[in-house]
Amino acid sequence: MIAFVATLLMGIAWWEFGPRTPDSWTEAELIEIRSLSLRRLPELPADPSNGVADDPRAASLGHKLFFDTRLSANGAVSCATCHKPEQRFTDGLAKGRGIALSQRNTRSIVGTAYSPWQYWDGRKDSQWSQALSPLEDPAEHGSNRLELARLLATDVSLKTEYEAIFGPLPNFTDTTRFPDRASPIGSEELGTAWESMIDSDRGVVNTAFANLGKAIAAYERMLQPGPTRFDNYVAEIEQGLDSSSLSDEEIIGLQLFVSDARCTECHNGPLFTNNEFHNTGVLSFPGDHPDRGRIDGLKQLLADPFNCKGEYSNDPLHQCDELTYVRTGIELIGATRTPSLRNLGGTAPYSHKGQHATLAEVIDLYNRAPLAMIGHNEVEEKLGLSRRERKQLEAFLIALDAPIAADPKWLKAPE
Ligand code: HEC
Ligand code: HEC
Repeated sequence: MIAFVATLLMGIAWWEFGPRTPDSWTEAELIEIRSLSLRRLPELPADPSNGVADDPRAASLGHKLFFDTRLSANGAVSCATCHKPEQRFTDGLAKGRGIALSQRNTRSIVGTAYSPWQYWDGRKDSQWSQALSPLEDPAEHGSNRLELARLLATDVSLKTEYEAIFGPLPNFTDTTRFPDRASPIGSEELGTAWESMIDSDRGVVNTAFANLGKAIAAYERMLQPGPTRFDNYVAEIEQGLDSSSLSDEEIIGLQLFVSDARCTECHNGPLFTNNEFHNTGVLSFPGDHPDRGRIDGLKQLLADPFNCKGEYSNDPLHQCDELTYVRTGIELIGATRTPSLRNLGGTAPYSHKGQHATLAEVIDLYNRAPLAMIGHNEVEEKLGLSRRERKQLEAFLIALDAPIAADPKWLKAPE
């Protein structure tokens, strides 16, 4: 009894005057903290929509394609132009820049194979179908699927690798069947050329195009976050050891993160994301339209021929639970996908259009909880954290940074 009261008093004392010691976290807090540890990350789930998701030959081809600037209209843009390995696969810009300026802030790719949705607005439901979109985006690679399919069929090394995985490609040289450039997306010229083709030829091109995305996705599955000082701290408290991995300030930041600051309402699980869509009242840049986010992303996803239910998905059952039971409703207006907080190192600026230059600015947003410019800010209550507490929260977020856990060969252009 005396021991119990003493522990209780000690707990209160620590709460008032300093960080919790390993044995003074409450049971509920411990459960929450453990659930954030990278050790709790399950194995990467299979992607039945991508028949080659775990084929090492596909990862190797995808690696080449990811760094290949020939996959762009001006021969200068590759995925790695905006997703730089040394910046956790982002670019340090407010908005991505390829052939022109992208609409949004470049997201990291690390760990995203776990997500049922891709992009800030979740307009894609797999990594392979996501990969197709920048290739034809006039602001990013600005290419078109026919030229891309032809590149696969004419470059000897790409062709050999592709065919070993996916089977033979047509040669696309018959220009009466296959125009020089064509796509249902982009300019009118591309659209007219696409319409001039017969259905089955369009299918052949789409299949090669989808396979290109599937190889890139197999590569992206190799990019997973590595253990951070926070994860080491969790291991220490689990073993009842004195903590040396986090400083006192960082531990108080963790305390705020899981309790008073309510961050784990959305940033939960080992990747610090619930993979859901929320409106957090991020303000637009002056002159930028407020982003409609998920409400429009969902419409695009449902109409996408490359979604999980589409004919290019390899899933024979086409069950697609995520898509079948997808959340709808007006709360999706202005909602964006909760980002993982394991990729904050070198990924500034933050938020969907890069509105926040620093983590301090993001924390300040939650502290003020402004009215949303569009839809309704789900964070209704101002946090009202003191300056010191905001610094502690920031210190904790920085402790979530660690090198990517991948074979170094994947973190640079292939030889
Ligand atoms: C011009 C810069 C640019 C290029 C080139 C580019 N991306 Fe992106 N990428 C972005 C931006 C910006 C976003 C976020 C866009 C959005 O959410 O609307 C993004 C998002 C993503 C995401 C989603 C991650 C997540 O968590 O939602 C993946 C995966 C991705 N890109 C992979 C690729 C691949 C693969 C390529 C090459 C085929 C590529 N990107 C080319 C800028 C670029
Ligand atoms: C209601 C859900 C929700 C809560 C609660 C929440 N977040 Fe977020 N967080 C999001 C969403 C959604 C975004 C993306 C916002 C955007 O740019 O549109 C985000 C973005 C961020 C970012 C920017 C990351 C990046 O890569 O751009 C950081 C950092 C962050 N949150 C930290 C926190 C912290 C710290 C707390 C607690 C004080 C918190 N969040 C509470 C949902 C939430």
